[in-house]
Amino acid sequence: MKNLKKGIAALLAVLMCVALFACGGKTTPSASPSETPSESPSPSASAPVEPAKNYKVGIIQIVEHPSLDEVRTSFIAELAAKGFVDGQNITIDYKNGQGDMTNLNTIAQGFANDKYDIIVAIATPSAQAAQAATSEIPIVFSAVTDPVDAGLIDSLEKPGANITGTSDWISAVDIIKLANDLTPGFKTIGTIYNSGEANSVSTVNDLKAYAAENGLTIVEQPITNTSELQQAAQTLSNKCDIVFIPTDNAVASAMPIAAEVFNAAKIPLYVGADSMVTDGGFASYGVNYTNLGKETAAMVVDVLGGKAPAELPARAIPVTDIYINSVTAAILGVTIPEEILNNAKIVGE
Ligand code: TRP
Repeated sequence: MKNLKKGIAALLAVLMCVALFACGGKTTPSASPSETPSESPSPSASAPVEPAKNYKVGIIQIVEHPSLDEVRTSFIAELAAKGFVDGQNITIDYKNGQGDMTNLNTIAQGFANDKYDIIVAIATPSAQAAQAATSEIPIVFSAVTDPVDAGLIDSLEKPGANITGTSDWISAVDIIKLANDLTPGFKTIGTIYNSGEANSVSTVNDLKAYAAENGLTIVEQPITNTSELQQAAQTLSNKCDIVFIPTDNAVASAMPIAAEVFNAAKIPLYVGADSMVTDGGFASYGVNYTNLGKETAAMVVDVLGGKAPAELPARAIPVTDIYINSVTAAILGVTIPEEILNNAKIVGE
């Protein structure tokens, strides 16, 4: 989705204005008109939103892995910084789906039945479960790779229904270009991903299109859950020159297993997120998940302030940093060129 990137700067500018206006406005969500606060906070650009009632916020997360945990922690901290403190004036109910779609559906249905004021869905499968559970309660998703491809919104600019949120879209092409700079000469790219995750399918499709145009061969080793990861990595390690793994939740939740196999085979392992580099992958070009959590909190505050998700543009945060694991680089025997080293975040030291 090329247009995701283009709209980012313009959207951020517009949304900052929206956020400023929301600061002086009422804080009642459209779902609960009966609880309109009696006093109107005096409008001031710098004043935080006055939390007017005890909102029930349901957080649903597909699985626990470092990137998603970083998003959630940052989201909750930023909400508090904006005046919405768990246990004081909001109640945050966090539930983890343990990597299982059936669990996600049960959790989302529970939030809907209990009439939560807002559902915050972290990662694509969580957002899809929330979408299936309610068309009325506002949903703000976070860290969804491609919300249009995943069928969550009509477009970034006009989401269209009760759902909006933030995207961590990454460029498979840019990561392969990074691979060209770090470990040139590859012909065959292996990839492992959960075929049930729309986020991964979308990134792998971008990878395949680039490979087709550039005479590269893609070897796919799809999995259906984390327990298949070790075997898939082992099989793939005999069949490719480098590996690319997208921001796949099933792989990320057991990332050290994949890293161990490919590092032992001395195959450069390129990945979609910084945490996957920290967990032993070689390199990535990705987004900052702490910033993503903050952006998500800002959107949640807007929605609690009465903005309809249908009209609140979704935001893709820009890819900002190259991440390289120096321990993995040493195992692979790769020397990082100076220009890249100077612009990269080095982990593993
Ligand atoms: N983008 C993923 C999704 O849409 C979620 C995600 C964010 C992720 N960061 C990650 C997955 C890091 C794996 C690794 O579901």
